[in-house]
Amino acid sequence: MNFENRVALITGAGSQRGIGRETAKQLASRGATVVVADINFEGVQDTAKEIEKMGRGRAYAVHLDVTDKNQVAGVVKEIVDRFGRLDILVNNAGITRPTRVMDIPEDEWDLIFKVNVKSIYYLTLEALKVMKRQNYGRIVNLGSVSGKRGGGVFGGAHYSASKAAVAGFTKAVAREMAPYGITCNVVAPGMIETDITGGMLTEEAKQAQIRAVPVGRLGRVQDVAYAIAFLASEEAGYIVPDPVCRPGAPRFRSL
Ligand SMILES: NC(=O)c1ccc[n+]([C@@H]2O[C@H](COP(=O)([O-])OP(=O)(O)OC[C@H]3O[C@@H](n4cnc5c(N)ncnc54)[C@H](O)[C@@H]3O)[C@@H](O)[C@H]2O)c1
Repeated sequence: MNFENRVALITGAGSQRGIGRETAKQLASRGATVVVADINFEGVQDTAKEIEKMGRGRAYAVHLDVTDKNQVAGVVKEIVDRFGRLDILVNNAGITRPTRVMDIPEDEWDLIFKVNVKSIYYLTLEALKVMKRQNYGRIVNLGSVSGKRGGGVFGGAHYSASKAAVAGFTKAVAREMAPYGITCNVVAPGMIETDITGGMLTEEAKQAQIRAVPVGRLGRVQDVAYAIAFLASEEAGYIVPDPVCRPGAPRFRSL
């Protein structure tokens, strides 16, 4: 995988132990220019410094609240003005709340959906305008096993619902945009040791989790970042989520 001359935008890349920072490092270490965006500006500045120290790739830190449509449009415009293109979008920013379904307040439901789902709609639309012109693009969204099996240790029903929505959106975008050289995929990690999960588990709960994992350990951010990097690469141009192959079926048809 070579990301030389590729420009990537990675949201939620500010947390120190997060999947976003590791993904940015993986892409930069293979030559990419990475724009690391987060509501936590100090965090992404730190990510950018770490990448500069690696001596490969380039990093540029921006403050971005992914729930703000105007900020999203501004950041994508700034990327195109500065670097001339946008090849890769990793929609990684996300939040969770371990609230039981009967206790979920409406404002918490709305917040989870704004950060985890609506932001992806804002970012995807802005990125697609650029990617369609280029006839090239890679979009990778962060789902979760919670979106498939319902519930998790840290995520309530609203988190599960939001991640299932991300998967559905991803499949539809993939189907519609494939003819333009643009792929859209979703990575759905199990429990990964990051700032979201780190320190929140008792040793006993951690061991119980590990017993349910065939590999016998919790996931590491590197495990997820490798998968994201592959899906973001040129080589993954044939990969689509859940392909339904019916001979003669239209790829996408406007109603
Ligand atoms: N850690 C896990 O076990 C796990 C499992 C499955 C899925 N995921 C998903 O992976 C993604 C990354 O998770 P992580 O564990 O690295 O989390 P993390 O908390 O380490 O990182 C998430 C980042 O998103 C940023 N963020 C939050 N709200 C934002 C906003 N409005 N605008 C911009 N940035 C914002 C945070 O500042 C943080 O830096 C999330 O979408 C999460 O739901 C994580």
